[in-house]
Amino acid sequence: MKAITNTEYGSPDVLHLTEIEKPLPKDNEILIKVHATSVNFGDTMARNFKAITPRQFNMPFLIWLIAKISFGLNQPKITVLGNEFAGEVEAVGRDVKRFKSGDVVFGTLGEKMGAYAEYLCLPENGILAIKPTNMTYEEAAGIPYGALIALSLLRRGNIQPGQKVLINGASGGIGSAAVQIAKSLGAEVTGVCSTSKVEFVKSLGATNVIDYTEEDFTKNGKTYDLVFDILGRSSITRCKNSLKPNGIHLFASFKMKQLLQMLWTSRSGGQKVICSFVPGSVEDLNSVKKLIEDGKLQAFIDRFYPLEKTAEAHWYVENGHKKGSVVISVS
Ligand SMILES: NC(=O)c1ccc[n+]([C@@H]2O[C@H](COP(=O)([O-])OP(=O)(O)OC[C@H]3O[C@@H](n4cnc5c(N)ncnc54)[C@H](OP(=O)(O)O)[C@@H]3O)[C@@H](O)[C@H]2O)c1
Repeated sequence: MKAITNTEYGSPDVLHLTEIEKPLPKDNEILIKVHATSVNFGDTMARNFKAITPRQFNMPFLIWLIAKISFGLNQPKITVLGNEFAGEVEAVGRDVKRFKSGDVVFGTLGEKMGAYAEYLCLPENGILAIKPTNMTYEEAAGIPYGALIALSLLRRGNIQPGQKVLINGASGGIGSAAVQIAKSLGAEVTGVCSTSKVEFVKSLGATNVIDYTEEDFTKNGKTYDLVFDILGRSSITRCKNSLKPNGIHLFASFKMKQLLQMLWTSRSGGQKVICSFVPGSVEDLNSVKKLIEDGKLQAFIDRFYPLEKTAEAHWYVENGHKKGSVVISVS
């Protein structure tokens, strides 16, 4: 089968179209014919992990170290990237109960990756579900990564209708889902992004958009019930005056400092810090599917690339142009 492989770390030019062996499903596995995949933050990081510093990784040093060992110190152990997909079940192992041939599915492979290929195998208890009926393969392929993280973290924020929520990093994979999910919960959403993405964030449904190159949201005198910081660029100290007295500062990216602040603020009244890893789950993917089918979460596709132009797609994302999903059409 055709796949995009990378046998060394580096720029998008390490991605090459190759012929590799088609996988065979084990007894508990499903063989999926991939129709579409995407390029997101995880793919660009994994492609060049050798050069990624703990600071760029935006996570505690220990997590960076574990990721470095599991991705490979000098050479990538994972040679087919792509962490989210939509496709059709082609065959199932003899113990598989949840899916059958012909099912149309979407899901994520997480850090194991492998969706930049015509076929992939994953266990039936992997993070996959029947594709929403109102989305194409291309639309569904760009959803799971961002939506699963946004949904799981926003739940921790316990948003109530009418609350004011600020999403810092609103134009990215996680942020664009977070804007839509917070809005569907009845919040008044403010998105923070750069100049060229202001219109895009408005189109996601944000009531207000702050261009971070023009205005510092921590200094404009406005207060929020929840500040969701995707890249961990703000801090509880900087945001003290932007959060209401019982406000929550939610982090998708965090360091030891925020973990300690989470511990500290969990024992005291007032403002709280919450940070969490999101492994993703089938239950959450089904909740994402329901949000989509209820019209509360939409796909925003920026560009399509054919599989053989995956390197070009990575360059586009790497250069910071992405607004919504960059989709790779596989078949
Ligand atoms: N908690 C978890 O389990 C988990 C899992 C996966 C990933 N993560 C974390 O999530 C982060 C990646 O998120 P993503 O996939 O949404 O990334 P992404 O698609 O690359 O988007 C990042 C967004 O941040 C914005 N941004 C850049 N500089 C900013 C600034 N100074 N102020 C405000 N916004 C800024 C960018 O907006 P502009 O382009 O407009 O500048 C971009 O839209 C990583 O740090 C990763 O560690 C966490």
